[in-house]
Amino acid sequence: MAFPFFSRTRNAIAARCADDLATKARLRYAPFYHAMEAQQGTHIRLDGRELIMLSSNDYLGLSFHPKVIEAGQRAMARWGASPTGARVSNGSRAYHHALEQKLAAFLGQEACHVHAAGYLSCMSGIAAFAAKGDVVLADKNIHSCLWDGIRLSNATVERFTHNNADELRAAARTIPEDTARLLVLEGVYSMEGHTAKLPELLAVAEEFDCFTVLDDAHGFGVLGREGRGTADHFGLTEKLDLIVGSLSKSLGSTGGFIAGKRSSIEYLRTHSKHTIFSAALAPAQAAAAEAALEVMQTEPQHRERLWANTRRYTAFLQSLKLDTWGSETPAVPVVVGSKERAYRLWQLLLEKGVFTVMSIAPAVPPGKDLVRTAISALHSDDDLDRIEEAFTYAVKRL
Ligand SMILES: Cc1ncc(COP(=O)(O)O)c(C=O)c1O
Repeated sequence: MAFPFFSRTRNAIAARCADDLATKARLRYAPFYHAMEAQQGTHIRLDGRELIMLSSNDYLGLSFHPKVIEAGQRAMARWGASPTGARVSNGSRAYHHALEQKLAAFLGQEACHVHAAGYLSCMSGIAAFAAKGDVVLADKNIHSCLWDGIRLSNATVERFTHNNADELRAAARTIPEDTARLLVLEGVYSMEGHTAKLPELLAVAEEFDCFTVLDDAHGFGVLGREGRGTADHFGLTEKLDLIVGSLSKSLGSTGGFIAGKRSSIEYLRTHSKHTIFSAALAPAQAAAAEAALEVMQTEPQHRERLWANTRRYTAFLQSLKLDTWGSETPAVPVVVGSKERAYRLWQLLLEKGVFTVMSIAPAVPPGKDLVRTAISALHSDDDLDRIEEAFTYAVKRL
């Protein structure tokens, strides 16, 4: 009798996993998935070494704010660890409503819905609203979650060159008049760190009557009055149908939100599979985000410090003649143009005690391979001195 355990051949998918070259390269060079052994603000421990974190999205440094930590702890004690279900069934809690009302009011919107991840919110901001037969107009550089939303919507997609209003207009002109159109943009582009040209782009959206969705994951907390985001920065909030984003960046928690007209949010709750069939945002995460939102409005010093740090850091990178891809915000890429150079820069910075993240094609356009860095309000002058020393060292050896 054959012994099934030994005679079984690998199936095609198991073989694909076992033989995947990209995975083998990742495991060999190990630039990703580093598990920090400890963290206190911008200081982390990795392989027993104390490093400075220069790539988190904790722009305002609120993930370590005492009020935020205390709010999370209190919520967990009161509500338990999890809502253990979806909002539509058993998982809705008063704390979800409280956070949604505060976010909606802050963003100047009628209503809001929060999800357990920003990825879910941003994806459903497209998937739930566009449908087969509609056309989605998409900036070529939008985040993966938005592309996933487009694919799931089954709508036709028209891509236009990044931030190019003329190309957007040309694409919009080709769409038959009776076809519904959705325009999707990011407020601050997560890799590039620069802002959308909202005045020009939203003028086209208005001309062609588009339903307009702005992913402001990286503009929220950073731009606009008290951190209301990119649309507020340009005074164009009224021109948007939905603002979607994340609780995991400036709000120092995890989760995501969609804010807009009440009718849109109620439509989402009826039609979005990702909203209906996924467990609700956890108590500690919602409470942390709610406390951070309060801190954003009452303690302007965090945003002031963030921008002072950003100005010092970008001026320093420019003095080294590094290419920061026109970044205008605390998300600052250092473009080096090939994956070998990106890996080398990442390694050299790590050697000098600075933790960054490498981003290579296809995550970025070919030739734009980069090391992504991000400034936080929590970086001290001493941290910035060490970061500058590390870059000076790395650039000489690149
Ligand atoms: C532009 C953008 N949108 C959405 C997301 C998803 O947010 P989250 O990581 O909170 O799921 C990210 C995360 O990096 C992002 O950069």
